[in-house]
Amino acid sequence: MIVCRSQAEIAKLRRVNQLVGRILAELRTLAVPGMTTGEMDRIAEERVRAAGAEPAFKGYHGYPATLCVSANDQVVHGIPSSRPLVEGDILSIDMGAKLDGFFGDSAVTVPVGRVSSAAADLLRVTEEALFRGIEAVKPGSRVSDIGAAVQQHVEAHGYSVVREFVGHGIGTSLHEEPQIANYGPGGRGPRLAEGMVLAIEPMVNIGAPKTRTLADRWTAVTEDGSLSAHFEHTVVVTTGGREILTLLEGDMTRARELLGASIGGS
Ligand code: MF3
Ligand code: CO
Repeated sequence: MIVCRSQAEIAKLRRVNQLVGRILAELRTLAVPGMTTGEMDRIAEERVRAAGAEPAFKGYHGYPATLCVSANDQVVHGIPSSRPLVEGDILSIDMGAKLDGFFGDSAVTVPVGRVSSAAADLLRVTEEALFRGIEAVKPGSRVSDIGAAVQQHVEAHGYSVVREFVGHGIGTSLHEEPQIANYGPGGRGPRLAEGMVLAIEPMVNIGAPKTRTLADRWTAVTEDGSLSAHFEHTVVVTTGGREILTLLEGDMTRARELLGASIGGS
């Protein structure tokens, strides 16, 4: 069953998702050469707790940190460490939080200093693909329309969509129904309705789609060693389409360019 949230519940979801968006915006400025992901994680946890919220990932199936930080060929679920970032890295920063019983979840992949044009292009296409997926969210669409839109954009640029991990419903749990694959034919699965809340999170590889998990039992990497990027927003289905709950006011203009349509907003 996919839950449709009331306006009061959506207000709570907006609060926690805006918190996640604000903290991620700060973290992305910290992703510079010499910074460690362990230090970024410490700052993230401090910001989450200062807001009266809790990290959503820490303790989830034993996950040890507030952030997932996945560099270069790491796809998702990388564990923060004392390794310093170096110029040319690309770093996915993924964060979830819980406030007043409701969850927020968002991720960005950022360049560390100057990166190769291949890396920059991967980041651009992956974020565009997320917005193509978001654009497919409206009442009456089907869940698989999201993945179909993502896959179409990714493959048109010669990249591949990761199959082993999916987006998800989100609300009073971090992961709720439905699962949202980033590929597949459209027109399948449940119809979207006003009040449904979805975390959409494409993972895109320059090379082959296949991933494997490292011995730490969390970090997923590309099997062929190619670069991977990951972007995530949490959205709510509205009468006119969708509102991106994790999008900050200041990023609205850029998002409109990526979306080419009305995105709603808070
Ligand atoms: N954004 C990811 C997800 O929704 C991160 C989860 S990490 C975990 O699955 F540690 F919580 F598993
Ligand atoms: Co998620």
